[in-house]
Amino acid sequence: MAQIIDGKAVSAAVKNEVAAEAARLRDEKGLKVGLAVVIVGSDPASRVYVNNKKKACEAVGFQSFEYALEESTTQEQLLDLVNVLNRDDRVNGILVQLPLPKHIDEKAVINAISPAKDVDAFHPENVGRIMIGEYSFLPCTPAGVMRLIESTGTDITGKQCVVIGRSNIVGKPQAMLLLQKNGTVTICHSKTKNLKEICLGADILVVAIGRANFITGDMIKEGAVVIDVGMNRLDNGKLCGDVEFESAEKKASFITPVPGGVGPMTIAMLMKNTLTAAKQQAGIE
Ligand code: GUN
Repeated sequence: MAQIIDGKAVSAAVKNEVAAEAARLRDEKGLKVGLAVVIVGSDPASRVYVNNKKKACEAVGFQSFEYALEESTTQEQLLDLVNVLNRDDRVNGILVQLPLPKHIDEKAVINAISPAKDVDAFHPENVGRIMIGEYSFLPCTPAGVMRLIESTGTDITGKQCVVIGRSNIVGKPQAMLLLQKNGTVTICHSKTKNLKEICLGADILVVAIGRANFITGDMIKEGAVVIDVGMNRLDNGKLCGDVEFESAEKKASFITPVPGGVGPMTIAMLMKNTLTAAKQQAGIE
C-alpha cells in the first residue's frame, strides 16, 4: 500500500521558507515583495484561483495588486496594463490568469510580460532558459511536482520517468526537469501506442492528461512513485485526478491524492518565484 504524499504539508513548508526569507529581506534590506494578478472576465474557477493567490501573498507577507477587468476588455487595454505593470517598481511578479476571453490572443499577452517579472515562466525566453538549464523561474506546477518527488527521498538519477501529457505548461517542462535530474524520460500523450506497457516500465509516473481516472492500477509498476496533476470534476460534483486512486495506491510506493497533492504546490511555487524575482530585481543573488 502506497504512502500518501501530503501536498498541503510540503506546500506549507515551502511557504514558510518563503515567508521567512521575505521577512529577512524586509528587515535587513527594506525590500517589499509585490505580485500583480490580472483576471479578465468572471470565470468562477479562475476567480477561486486568483483569490487563493491573493491569500497566499498575505500569508507570506507579500503585497498583492489585483486587477479584475471586464470580460469586454480589449487586447490593447490588457497589453497597456501589462506595460504599466512592467514599469511599476512595486510589482516584482506579474501573473495574468489564463484562460483569457476568446477575443484576446494569449500568446501576445504572455510575450508582453517582462521576462524578469514572468513568475509563471510562460514567456518564450523563460521557456528557452529551461531547455538549456539556465533558468530563474520554473513553471509552478512542474516545479511543485519536483518538490513532491524530492519529499519522498527518491533519487531520480537513472530512473525511468514517464510523463503523460505534453502541454506547454506541465508536460513539456516537467520532462525537461526530470531530465535535468538525470532521469530517463518518456513523454506520452493521447496518440501514444502501448501506453500501458510504457507506464508499466515507469519508476516515476507523472500524469497530466486531463482525463478522469485515466491511469489505473494495472498500468502501474509495483513500487512506482505516482504524481497525479489532474483535477477533474465528475458529474456528481466530486473532484478526481487523472489516476484511479483506489487501484493505484495498491501498486505505488508513493502517490499524491487529489485534492491535496499537486494543487497546493502550484501556489507555493508561485510565491517562491515571486520572491526570486524581487531578489533579482534588487540585485540580491
Ligand atoms: N490558469 C490555470 N493555471 C494557471 C497558471 O498556473 N497560471 C496562470 N497564469 N493561469 C492559470
